[in-house]
Amino acid sequence: MNVDIGNALATVASPGVSRDSLERLDEQVADAHARIERGMANAEHGYEALNLPERVDPDEILTAVEPIADAETMITVGIGGSSLGAATITNALDSDTEAVFLDNVDPEWVSYHLDRVSFENAAINVVSRSGTTAETLANFLVVRDAFESAGVDWTERTIVTTGESGPLCDLADRHDLPSLTVPDGVPGRFSALSAVGMVAAAVCGHDLEALLEGAAAEADTLSESLFDCPAYAYGATTYALDGRGAGVNAMMPYAESLETVAEWFAQLWAESLGKDDLGQTPVRALGATDQHSQLQLYRAGPRDKLVTFVTPRNGGDRPIPDTDVEELAYLGDSTLGTLLEAEFEATEASLAAAGRPNVRVEIDRVDEYELGGLLYGLEAACVLAGELYGVNTFEQPAVEWAKKATRGLLGGGEFAETAAVAEKTELR
Ligand code: PA5
Repeated sequence: MNVDIGNALATVASPGVSRDSLERLDEQVADAHARIERGMANAEHGYEALNLPERVDPDEILTAVEPIADAETMITVGIGGSSLGAATITNALDSDTEAVFLDNVDPEWVSYHLDRVSFENAAINVVSRSGTTAETLANFLVVRDAFESAGVDWTERTIVTTGESGPLCDLADRHDLPSLTVPDGVPGRFSALSAVGMVAAAVCGHDLEALLEGAAAEADTLSESLFDCPAYAYGATTYALDGRGAGVNAMMPYAESLETVAEWFAQLWAESLGKDDLGQTPVRALGATDQHSQLQLYRAGPRDKLVTFVTPRNGGDRPIPDTDVEELAYLGDSTLGTLLEAEFEATEASLAAAGRPNVRVEIDRVDEYELGGLLYGLEAACVLAGELYGVNTFEQPAVEWAKKATRGLLGGGEFAETAAVAEKTELR
């Protein structure tokens, strides 16, 4: 990926960061890089995620999915980091296999999806690192029951990705299900480039090797200076801008296929950096759609935002047909791709003209290789930002708190968190 921070500099934007400040910050980036390299070399928790391009064996995943490779519908049951990576990859790329993601437990929504599935042509991809997440386990039981009701043996159509032990691991053993292990030391939101994110991609026929090669190429750019490393340039610039008042980061891809990147990024940024009263608030947007809604606020609202554009240099195209309406003749000379590009250029320039900081993250095109690089680059940016903030990037105590409280409320264990919920409920 390529990162252009020109529109985030203090000479053109407010809040903005000066070149001098970035040069001073670069000393901290060098220290942070040394810590990241050490963490990677020692396979420390979290840092290990940045080793995935060289650790993951695509053949192991392809072999595991063989029994369900004929699926016309791949139902992934998982939530958060156990779903969004896979959704980001499969939503970005074309496939004849339909990828369905059941993360939420909204009963109507789950039923809506299951009512449309042809079970004999479907497969289940159940993913949970802990193997204890209530939403995932509940949806899995519902989906498995739906297979049974349709007369389809779910044990022949299920693949499990989970940790070394836990209830889901036990269930996989009991039914002799093909299973893959969530790599040690890789938190959910950093696991897109492992079996967690790649099983669905494999069944959808995407090129896993290219995904990993793109990530590996991005890994090769990690270096001690933000001026030599696109991922660090992004991580350091966002950190610096947050410190100067840009507490909101609106992620705005300019491609429908990349819409889920914004959702994935929101989890990565919020769950990794939102600690100790610190962290930038990620917002999801989509170009050109949100030019007609959120852009007003970004250009003229409070000066508390950074807009991050993600844009492919080369996309598909479609000519706009001619018309005999004179005022519309200019469209007939153009294409939808040219129009989308013009929308992006106009939006970027309009924010710059109003002195609103924005950063352009460019990829060559939307394919496996570029996507692997983008996901890896944004993860590395996040790890760098976490080092600069001095937070524990790889833990998520607030998320775990709610998970335990929920399980306790349903009678799934005794947790202090559940007692705290009961206390608050009584106060109402
Ligand atoms: O990033 C994280 O750690 C979380 O978002 C988890 O991925 C999410 O809570 C799901 O957890 P699990 O994989 O244990 O079901």
